[in-house]
Amino acid sequence: AAAGSGATAGHENWSSRSAFILAAVGSAVGLGNMWRFPAEAGENGGGAFVLFYVFCVLLIGLPVLLSEVLIGRHGQASAPDSVQKVAQDSGASKGWSVIGSLGVFAAFLILSFYCVVGGWVVYYIGVFLGDLFQTGLTGGAFEGRAAEDIESLLPGLFGNGMLMIGLNMGFLAATIFFVARGVSSGIEWVAVYLMPLFFLLFLGITVYGAFTGNFSEAVTYLFTFDFSKLTGEVMLAAVGQAFFSLSLGVAGMITYGSYASRNTNLGATSGIIAGADTAVALLAGLAIFPIVFAAGLSASVGPGLMFQSLPIAFQAMPFGSLIGLAFFIMVFFAALTSSVSLLEAPVAFVKDRFKMSRMTATIIVGLGAAVLGVLSSLSFNDMADFRPLAFIPLFAEANFFDALDGVTAKLFMPIGAILTCIFVGWVADAKLIDDENGLDGVLHQTWRALVRYVCPIILAVILFFGIFG
Ligand code: PFF
Repeated sequence: AAAGSGATAGHENWSSRSAFILAAVGSAVGLGNMWRFPAEAGENGGGAFVLFYVFCVLLIGLPVLLSEVLIGRHGQASAPDSVQKVAQDSGASKGWSVIGSLGVFAAFLILSFYCVVGGWVVYYIGVFLGDLFQTGLTGGAFEGRAAEDIESLLPGLFGNGMLMIGLNMGFLAATIFFVARGVSSGIEWVAVYLMPLFFLLFLGITVYGAFTGNFSEAVTYLFTFDFSKLTGEVMLAAVGQAFFSLSLGVAGMITYGSYASRNTNLGATSGIIAGADTAVALLAGLAIFPIVFAAGLSASVGPGLMFQSLPIAFQAMPFGSLIGLAFFIMVFFAALTSSVSLLEAPVAFVKDRFKMSRMTATIIVGLGAAVLGVLSSLSFNDMADFRPLAFIPLFAEANFFDALDGVTAKLFMPIGAILTCIFVGWVADAKLIDDENGLDGVLHQTWRALVRYVCPIILAVILFFGIFG
């Protein structure tokens, strides 16, 4: 099969390869790296989790990532239509496009609760900004306030339903704004300006953490591999985290791949994306844990690590308010470049399928995400007792927010990825795949073996234990 017919008329494109890389790294690097990775590493015992995480990225994440961008680049259309084009050019059933449809739906669900957490980040920007004015530039954050007081900022926010909704809508509105402007002047703009700013702030804070915090304890914690800690549960958490962090299984990377030009080497580009994402996750650990350890706080508090422990730790640090402010601005940039990709996947679909303008499609999907967002925001207060999936044992205890998180991470992502591996590894025309992937020789053979055998088997095990374990 010839490697596709070039760009479909009217389908948008990145303006350069580096724009594609920045946008894809922007999608990958987000709350998953800054908030979820350190929390998961802390809850799962540190080193063993971290080692297995890196292993998962190399063996499963990277091959699936290449498979996804490859489908998009060949299809030059929204995710379902891209999968369908690869299927048709391989003489396979159009029905495989379900991979794209499921993914688009999952991206939409993730978007709706991702913007809720994005709202918390905005809240903390406000908190540190206010504190900076109160305590001045050089002092630690929250002068004279008790640790419990600082810790209670998050539950305080959770208790205020209206504020939660307002912040959620603000973050979603910013996402909508950039996606409505299109691929090269909106999505690319965010990536090209915000990602370098992100890296600059990130570098600064990591160096700050290394010098003022307890760097050696953090290094020992994150990189000492105690194999006895590598339980099934830890392994599951690590694969799930690798998937979430690389934006896999939910059509986002298929969609971004569809804007890539024919000259882009997808193998090399996928390597850069996965490498950058993993580096940021590891460095995020090396930025956060030294600060947390220096304050004598625990590593294993989970989701509260970034929103509760870190602010307490900033109290004892020189320039605490300023660094806290910079930190949350940095997380905001990372989160926005990710939420933009979560919105783009369904928008590209709605726009193509229903022949709508980008603006109309963005508003429709955005409104849908707003409705679900309200329900997620209220899961922390007025609707805390609502159990939307009470009839499914696995999710019986979950409120609306947790249900969306659980369903996407435990079902949609692994199922989407397994289907992608089977499709690319077994169904799609081998010559077509070979022409697209930019790999030669041993690398090509290795990648193909991983996609055909290793990834689907490991993912099926994960899915099984995720559901029944
Ligand atoms: N990779 C993003 C993060 O680590 O925060 C989250 C994400 C973005 C997941 C886009 C899925 C996606 F399609």
